Amino acid sequence: MSYVLDVVKPLALTIVKGQGNQLFDQAGKTYLDTFSGIAVNALGHQHPAILEALNAQANQHLHLSNFFRTQAQEQLAQSLTEASGMAKAFFTNSGTEATEAAIKLARKYGRTHQSNKTRIVSVEGAFHGRSTGAMALSGHDDTHASFTPLMEDTVRVKRDDIAALEAVMNDEVCAIVLELIYGSSGIYVLGDDFLRAVMRLAKKHQALIIVDEVQTGIMRTGSMFYFQQTPIEPDVVLAAKAIGGGLPLGAMLVKEPYIHILSPGDHGSTFGGNPLACALGQAVMNTIMEPSFLHTLCENMSYLHAQITALAYRHPKIIKDVRGVGYMLGVELYEDAIPFRDAALTHGVLLNVTSQTVIRLLPSLIFTRDEIDALTQSLDTLFLKT
Ligand SMILES: Cc1ncc(COP(=O)(O)O)c(C=O)c1O
Repeated sequence: MSYVLDVVKPLALTIVKGQGNQLFDQAGKTYLDTFSGIAVNALGHQHPAILEALNAQANQHLHLSNFFRTQAQEQLAQSLTEASGMAKAFFTNSGTEATEAAIKLARKYGRTHQSNKTRIVSVEGAFHGRSTGAMALSGHDDTHASFTPLMEDTVRVKRDDIAALEAVMNDEVCAIVLELIYGSSGIYVLGDDFLRAVMRLAKKHQALIIVDEVQTGIMRTGSMFYFQQTPIEPDVVLAAKAIGGGLPLGAMLVKEPYIHILSPGDHGSTFGGNPLACALGQAVMNTIMEPSFLHTLCENMSYLHAQITALAYRHPKIIKDVRGVGYMLGVELYEDAIPFRDAALTHGVLLNVTSQTVIRLLPSLIFTRDEIDALTQSLDTLFLKT
């Protein structure tokens, strides 16, 4: 019996310790972790840089509130804005709250042009969080039905449907919100032609472009942010997950022309930008920006992609498609992936399944070649048994 409300369905195991990319259960059994806490634990578990930052910050202060500037917050704001080409950061506790901050910024920006420039366009199937504002932008009507009415004046278009985008764009649109690679909905990558249309139409109608890099950001796709590999030039970048080094942290990163849209009193958060989370985030940034780290990461990402592609050739009747970039891969099966997830668990490999048929691989950025081999061999064995 658990005292935690049953709104999530955890796996049937209790983890007591993590080390690198290994998790240990109560019985001492080890598991290879391909979740990395859903793209949070960029440096795996108990990374020395994280432990060092944790200690150092704990010896200074844990929380001061937004009435004080802190070194940790200032440093991370600088790192994230420099890495994204944005000018300033607003810190939140989560990805959802980063989305909410962007909704407020977009609406206020719209009203600086005309009173009815308040509509936000997003893409069907994308995920931006679970508040009623973020849900209105996320295209999952089946999970929304019980919670309507959601935030008003939003419209969603189908992924990569340029004609639909053209049809909804007008001067009443204040922003277009994009999840460039669908994380929760099966790892679909938005096409470049669609992104070029977004650029053209946003410019024509003076709408902001907001990219949600909550899952794709912080080197997960081989660049600091995924938009850097696409034709998109965002006005606002949303980040979370890995930026807190394992603690709750989100950020809205804003381009120079828009840094004065929100004024004091427009928005805020008690814990957002907590110094401990920021210090851990900075440790992540320092570590992943080391050239040798990046070199190994990019090599290993190519290796994972090659191994998974080879697996797809070996099992053409089981694997339907392989999608994604870097360490954000979706392996779509022709059948339900849950039985494979459960079988992998008994083999000591933790697999995440999204959209019922897609194995979502989100290993930490320190996932090694040997671990890639262990993962692909386990998958090979599981697929051979079917
Ligand atoms: C792309 C994207 N946006 C927003 C969110 C919401 O973030 P959080 O769960 O931190 O509120 C998520 C979470 O999975 C996400 O993947």
